[in-house]
Amino acid sequence: MRIDILTLFPNMFDGFIHESIIKRAIERGLIEINLINIRDFTLLKNGQVDDTPYGGGSGMVLMCEPVVRAIESVKTDDAKVYLMSPQGKVFNDFLAGTLYESTKHLILVCGHYEGFDERIKKFVDGEISIGDYILTGGEIPAMAITDCIARFIPGVIDSESFQNESFKDNLLDYPVYTKPREFRGLKVPDVLLSGDHKKIDEYRKSEQIRITKEKRPDLLK
Ligand SMILES: C[S@@+](CC[C@H](N)C(=O)[O-])C[C@H]1O[C@@H](n2cnc3c(N)ncnc32)[C@H](O)[C@@H]1O
Repeated sequence: MRIDILTLFPNMFDGFIHESIIKRAIERGLIEINLINIRDFTLLKNGQVDDTPYGGGSGMVLMCEPVVRAIESVKTDDAKVYLMSPQGKVFNDFLAGTLYESTKHLILVCGHYEGFDERIKKFVDGEISIGDYILTGGEIPAMAITDCIARFIPGVIDSESFQNESFKDNLLDYPVYTKPREFRGLKVPDVLLSGDHKKIDEYRKSEQIRITKEKRPDLLK
C-alpha cells in the first residue's frame, strides 16, 4: 500500500513514521509513506502557497496552483485523492476498510489556515473529516487515517488482534488485564485465571455486549 501525504509541514510526521508499528511496517516494505511538501509546487516567489480570501474575511486560503500541481506530481491512474477537511465524510473503521479495499494508492492532502480554495475540490475524489471539531491543520487527520488503514495491511499487526478490536461486529472490545493478579485490592476476574477457554470466550462475549450497551448503545441499533 502506498500513501502519499501532501503537506506544508512534513516535519510534523517525523515521530509518526520513525517510531513503533508504522516504522516497522515501512522497514518491512508493507507500507510506503511519502511526504510531499506542497510549497515545492508553487510557481510564486518566496514559496507563497496561500493568499487572502476574495470577498474579505479572516485567514489565508491555500491556492489552487501549488496544491493541484502537488497532487498531479504523485497521482497514478488508480490513486484516490482526499482532502483532509472538517466538512468531509466522517472517518471510522468501516471507511478505513473501504478505502483499503478500494485502492492501493491513497493521496491525502492536508489543509492549513482557512482551508482550501474551493476549486481544488474539482481535482480530488472527496473530503474526509476525523470528527466534528476543528484542528489547525490536516496533518493529525492524515496521520490518524494512515495509521488506521495501515492496521488493515496483513502483517502490520498480528491477525488475531485485528479480529478482536472494538467496532468488529458493532461491538466494543472486552476488558483486558495483565500481571499482577491483584493491584491495590483490585482483582483480575477469576474466570480469566481458570484456564477454561470456553468459559473465557463466553465471559468476553458477554462483557462486549454489556460494555457496548453501556458506552455506545448507538452501535447496537
Ligand atoms: C482551521 S481548518 C479550516 C476549517 C475551515 N475553515 C472550516 O471551517 O471548514 C484548517 C485545515 O485543517 C484540517 N482540518 C481541521 N479540522 C479537521 C477535521 N476535523 N478533519 C479533517 N481535517 C481537518 C483541514 O485540512 C483544514 O483545511
